[in-house]
Amino acid sequence: MTDSEGTEFKRITRTFFEKEWQGTFDIFYEVSADGEKNYVKFAEFDPRDYSRLDAIFKEKQSEVFYIKETDLYKYYQFNILKHLLLELAQENYSPWEVVRTVYPVVTRLLQDYLEISTSDTFLELLDEIPEVLSESLFPNNLSFFELFAITQKENTIQTHCANVGLYCLSLARELEMNRKDCEEICRGGLLADIGKKSIPREVMFKETALTEKDRQTIRRHPAFGKKMLNEMKRYSNTVLRMAGEHHENFDGTGYPLKIAGNNIDFAARICKIADVFNALTCRRTYGELLSPEQALTFMKEKMKGQFDPELLTAFFIYVDRQ
Ligand SMILES: [Fe+2]
Repeated sequence: MTDSEGTEFKRITRTFFEKEWQGTFDIFYEVSADGEKNYVKFAEFDPRDYSRLDAIFKEKQSEVFYIKETDLYKYYQFNILKHLLLELAQENYSPWEVVRTVYPVVTRLLQDYLEISTSDTFLELLDEIPEVLSESLFPNNLSFFELFAITQKENTIQTHCANVGLYCLSLARELEMNRKDCEEICRGGLLADIGKKSIPREVMFKETALTEKDRQTIRRHPAFGKKMLNEMKRYSNTVLRMAGEHHENFDGTGYPLKIAGNNIDFAARICKIADVFNALTCRRTYGELLSPEQALTFMKEKMKGQFDPELLTAFFIYVDRQ
């Protein structure tokens, strides 16, 4: 949410304060006048003083407040991420435990990034995550079913991004790519659909059937995503090409470039498989949710020309192995 001066605010509820905070921040409440939203500073809050927080909530008789986006960034940086990395360094977690612990942080960060309109710096908070995930899968990859038990099946953009990042990583690992390449492919998978942020919400989240015009609008997200990531000047060519080419088909029938075969970036061909597989195995507004086996059969029988056959076979072998 943005006020009349363009400052971004994030809606928070009481549960937001349950974790230990470092540093102070301002709490705002929302006032609407003449169709314009404004945020009025209600209090400066020192999170160590919980009794005062109680008083604030009681006095205002509300459970909903707002903080500035910049404070939310600090919250993730100094609280959530710092705690996460500390926990991973101290505990002797198995690969499954690492991925399971990191997953909710990734989806939460992506959700906030996607909901706050001007916060590209937010993506920087994800910088260390692909390395942590990639490291955890050496020497041993997770089995497909261990991974499938972690990925949520909600049809949201943040869940889709997180799942695609993990499936890209595990397939890259299965192909015996090195740690750095696995890390970049994981990063590219996490960010491949970030261009959907630029698609109007009424089209992206439309609950009725999409029109041809809607479809064309949504099909602009690879180009938007690549452009956004390129402008941030912090991502590799692999990450950029995964965003731009993950809807290209091996037989040249995809979009937006209609390139085929090896002209499609190798990592983007991995991403294509992860993307379709996750879309088929997640709940949708319309259309059914498929089991992994049903999804693979569908991909093989109805969509075969779209995928790099060698990569699709490698993914089949990975999923089939118990
Ligand atoms: Fe996409």
